[in-house]
Amino acid sequence: MVNKVPVIAIDGPSGAGKGTVSQLVAKQLGWHFLDSGALYRLVAQAAKNHAITLDNIEALETLAAYLDVQFSVTDDSSAVRIILEGEDVSTCIRSEAIGNEASRIAALPGVRAALLERQRAFRAPPGLVADGRDMGTVVFPDAEVKVFLTASAEERAQRRYKQLKEKKSNVIFSDLLEEITKRDKRDAGRSIAPLRPAGGAVTIDTTELTIEQAVDQVMAVCSQRLVT
Ligand code: C5P
Repeated sequence: MVNKVPVIAIDGPSGAGKGTVSQLVAKQLGWHFLDSGALYRLVAQAAKNHAITLDNIEALETLAAYLDVQFSVTDDSSAVRIILEGEDVSTCIRSEAIGNEASRIAALPGVRAALLERQRAFRAPPGLVADGRDMGTVVFPDAEVKVFLTASAEERAQRRYKQLKEKKSNVIFSDLLEEITKRDKRDAGRSIAPLRPAGGAVTIDTTELTIEQAVDQVMAVCSQRLVT
């Protein structure tokens, strides 16, 4: 039997530090990295570009199926640029507005189905660290390592507030907290692939942890579960 490529699935709500932690774990291991949230954000961005509204489900499913996207590593390999239909959208897909649209679009079963194989195609040797909401439950149910990374809503809103303030954005903390709580509810309450810890997942609460401590805890789980 061919040895299958190992996967570390890291799921959890937005702002728990998944993106940063997953990328650092992938870097330490020298493995590939999948930012699955970016795919939902890209569908939202493509819908905006083509003036497709959220009630046009068929058009959204088609967009997801034929998404013209490249993930290109920069010359100094410090970051991945995301190119949608020839345009660099790496920064603009990170906005709160696109995040909220993405969360609505992500509740559509046809969109999720259209993105499934695209996500699985990231599984390549020597291994994959996959960051999302349903990595351990739906996309890679056979993942060797499953982690559910979480933090209190207040702490997640606080982190986002700090990030946005650094970018000189005019944000109000209570609005952010409300948005995060609403998005959590939508992600956890949807009927398809709801956000929840996968069976056998190790839950890590990062509320009181630094990024380094969170990475160390994930690496500790990996060394217990990965047979090297
Ligand atoms: O992780 P990120 O905030 O970039 O994801 C944006 C939105 O995409 C999430 O709020 C969630 O609704 C959706 N998503 C999802 N499944 C994933 C990753 C993201 O439903 N695996």
